[in-house]
Amino acid sequence: MERISPRACFEGEFSLPGDKSVTHRAIMLNGGADGEGVITNALMGEDCLSTCRCMRALGAKIDVDGTTLRVVGTPRFRRGTKLNCGNSGTTIRLLTGFVAGKEIDAELYGDESLSARPMKRVAEPLSLLGADVKTTDGHAPVYVSPKTLHGADVALQIASAQVKSAVLLAGLSADGETRVIEPIKSRDHTERMLQAMGADLRVDGNEVRVKKSALKGVDVCVPSDISSAAYFMALGALKGKTLCKNVGINSTRTGILKAFDLLGVNYTLLNRQVSGGEERADILVEKSDMRAINLTRELVPSMIDELPLIALLCAFADGETRITGAKELRVKESDRIRTTAELINNLGGDCEELPDGFIIRGREKLVGGDVDSYLDHRIAMTAAVGMIASQTGGRIYRPECCAISFPDFFEKLGLKLY
Ligand code: S3P
Repeated sequence: MERISPRACFEGEFSLPGDKSVTHRAIMLNGGADGEGVITNALMGEDCLSTCRCMRALGAKIDVDGTTLRVVGTPRFRRGTKLNCGNSGTTIRLLTGFVAGKEIDAELYGDESLSARPMKRVAEPLSLLGADVKTTDGHAPVYVSPKTLHGADVALQIASAQVKSAVLLAGLSADGETRVIEPIKSRDHTERMLQAMGADLRVDGNEVRVKKSALKGVDVCVPSDISSAAYFMALGALKGKTLCKNVGINSTRTGILKAFDLLGVNYTLLNRQVSGGEERADILVEKSDMRAINLTRELVPSMIDELPLIALLCAFADGETRITGAKELRVKESDRIRTTAELINNLGGDCEELPDGFIIRGREKLVGGDVDSYLDHRIAMTAAVGMIASQTGGRIYRPECCAISFPDFFEKLGLKLY
């Protein structure tokens, strides 16, 4: 792609693509429900297309018109399917749980990056419900065999919405009650949508209980993704003023705003409203002088996908930042502790890896430089922000991976991919 040049000022109003987590769930749950659901402002990124492909293979009917999807569900999944989950951790993990409750056999697989990501974290808790889920040395391909499930108490070791959701989706088909307890609360879109679809599900703090339930299709109006808005919010803080419209501000996702509070970033939430069970707002961010912060594990799940970008902001903040309790970053689309540290250092910053996070010594200015995305969409987009805010800019190698979650990211920045 063309070289990314630094900009003296970055201002504008932005409409961002639909939320990835909400879109996945709206497609998957409507695909396994009775009746139909219309999804508006759906994210048409590659990951959500993987969920569409899998749900079609299982028997759901999905019509696409721009960012509107009409899903006609199939409560009974087709047997013996091979489900290609592409690069998508959310697709493979949630679907493993959903399929495990359907008394069918299935194979779930993905690309090279997905095949390197841990799957035992899903197989083990599902086995407590009586599911038969075999991994390939802890990874994909994953093989599900038919079993009748029973409710169980599942105490998760890690705070992961993907694992929690997999157990809840299996729990929908289990006799008795399934109880999932998380060490720290992770994003709760699955719980909200299941309740809207008529599931017998109760939430009490970090504990969720679900009983055997059939789902009814629902319409979902997807808010814009705070994880995608984050790049434009960061550019506002570094370089001027940005307004991101209609962004989902579910409290399990707004860790970046807590990080902004600590960093001293100036932001305002406008037009707050709740629609379809998810709160949204326009987020105005203005240029701010930032100070170093200390982030620990309790805040990590609510900002997990934003941590590479937050680390970059800390590279521009005054003082030494410490981010810990974020070991999960090592098992994302890339090892994001390694790739984020490399990104910041290539731009001329000073970032040291910790086993579970970073130490970042802030500098008023970063010179700029070239960065490899390692085919990780969040690394590619964080690098673009860093280059725009740097003194000389740089080049991103393998930038096309941003299509996973934000297909027109570079166009929105006024840049051409090729
Ligand atoms: C997601 C949960 C998070 C996040 C991922 C999307 C989801 O993963 O990193 O991008 O939609 O449930 P973990 O639950 O594994 O932390």
